[in-house]
Amino acid sequence: MTEPTDKKHASRRRFLVGAAGLSATSLAAGASGRAALADNAKNLPPNVADWMRTLGDGVAVRAYGHPSKFEKDVIRRDVQWLTSSRESSVSFTPLHELDGIITPNGLCFERHHSGIAEIDPNDYRLMLHGLVDKPLIFTLEDLKRLPRVNRIYFLECAANSGMEWRGAQLNGCQYTHGMVHCVQYTGVPLKVLLAQAGLKANAKWIMAEGGDAAAMNRSIPLSKALDDCIVAYRMNGEMLRPEQGYPVRLVVPGWEGNVWVKWLRRIKVGDQPWYTREETAKYTDLLENGKARKFTFEMDAKSVITAPSPQAPLRQKGFTIISGLAWSGRGKVKRVDVSLDGGRNWRAARIDGPVFEKACVRFYYEFEWNGEALLLQSRATDDTGYVQPSKESLRKIRGVNSIYHNNGIQTWSLKVDGEVENVEVG
Ligand code: MTE
Ligand code: CO
Repeated sequence: MTEPTDKKHASRRRFLVGAAGLSATSLAAGASGRAALADNAKNLPPNVADWMRTLGDGVAVRAYGHPSKFEKDVIRRDVQWLTSSRESSVSFTPLHELDGIITPNGLCFERHHSGIAEIDPNDYRLMLHGLVDKPLIFTLEDLKRLPRVNRIYFLECAANSGMEWRGAQLNGCQYTHGMVHCVQYTGVPLKVLLAQAGLKANAKWIMAEGGDAAAMNRSIPLSKALDDCIVAYRMNGEMLRPEQGYPVRLVVPGWEGNVWVKWLRRIKVGDQPWYTREETAKYTDLLENGKARKFTFEMDAKSVITAPSPQAPLRQKGFTIISGLAWSGRGKVKRVDVSLDGGRNWRAARIDGPVFEKACVRFYYEFEWNGEALLLQSRATDDTGYVQPSKESLRKIRGVNSIYHNNGIQTWSLKVDGEVENVEVG
C-alpha cells in the first residue's frame, strides 16, 4: 500500500510530466493533464484509434463490473504505521478521486476492530431482547419482509482527522478526511422492530452488538433508536459489502461511525447505558483539565476541499474548479464558504446536487488561477446555524489531548508549481 509520503512524490512526478506535455497536446488532452501522459499520436484525431479496430469484450465477460484498468490508483489506502495490525485498523476513502455525494461501495473506508466477519446469510440472526414484552429473533428473510426505507447518509468515524489535533500531519485528504463515506441504505426502521417486540415502560436505552470477533457494542438512547435508526442490509442498491457489515448493520444517522454497529447480532433494551469499553476507554473526548466528555454522539458540521489537495495537485493555470464535500450530523448543510487566503476573505461556494439531512453535499468554487500561491480553506454552515470552527478556536475549547471529533477548518497550501501541502495557518 502506498504511504502518504510516497503519494506526494508520485504526484510531483505526474505534475512535471503533465506540465511538459501541455503546450503540444492541450487540445487532445482536453482539460485533464493525465491524458497528456498517454498521448499516442496514432490514437489521436484525425486517426482511427486502436480501440476502434477490434471488437471489444462481449457482455457478461465481466459478470460483476470493475472500474477501468486506467483507474487502478483510485483505491482505499491505509497508513501502516498508524496501527499495529491490519485486523484492528482503518483504510481511507480516496476522496480526492471522487465527485458527487455517493461513495462507490468498493471505495468506502473500512474500520474494523477485529477484522471482517464472514457471515453466511442463512445463519444470520438478529436477537432483540431486554426490556421488551416479547423477545424476538429475526432471520435476514424476516427483515426483508418488513416495511423498508431508502435513505442517503454519511458515516464519519469519530477519529476522522484525529491525527491532526497537534498540527498538520498527513499529506492528503484521503488520510486527513477519508474516514467518511456517503451511501444510500435500504433497511427496516429500527422502530418497526422495537414496536414488534413491545417496549416496557422503563425502556430508555438500547445496546447494539456486533457479530465480529470484537463483539463491538455501544449504548444508544432509545429516543435516537425510535427516531431515524435503520437496520440496513443494502448499500447503493446491492447487499452490504462484507467490509461494511454484511448482511446487516445499524445505521445511526449523523452520529459517530462507531455506533453504526456492523454484523449486527443483538439489540438489548435497557433503562440505562451499559458503559461498554467503546464508550468509556475509547470514544470519549479528553479535555485539557483531564476530564473526558462521554456520549458525544453527534458529528458536527465539517467540510474539506478534496481537489486540489496534496494527492490532486493543479497542473494548469487558468480556469480552476475547487471541489469539496461538506456534511453535518445535525441536519442539512446550508452553505459552504471557500477562502483562498487562509481565512481572511470568504466567498460562497456553489452546492451542486441533492442536499439531504445528515448526508454529504458537493460544493464547487470556480476561479481563475494565475499561478500564485494560495491558502485554500472551506467552511460549512448547517441549518441549525452552526459554523465549522477554525482549528485554533476548536483547540481553545477542546485542548489537544483529543483524538475524536476534530471538525476544524482544513488548510491546503497551493504552491506556485501546483503542488499542494497540508498546513495550518496561525
Ligand atoms: N461494528 C463492529 N461490529 N465492529 C467494528 O469494528 N467499527 C466501527 C463501526 N462499527 C466496527 C463496527 C467504527 S469505529 C466505524 S468508524 C464504523 O463501523 C466504520 O464503518 P465502515 O467500515 O463501514 O466504514
Ligand atoms: Co470509527
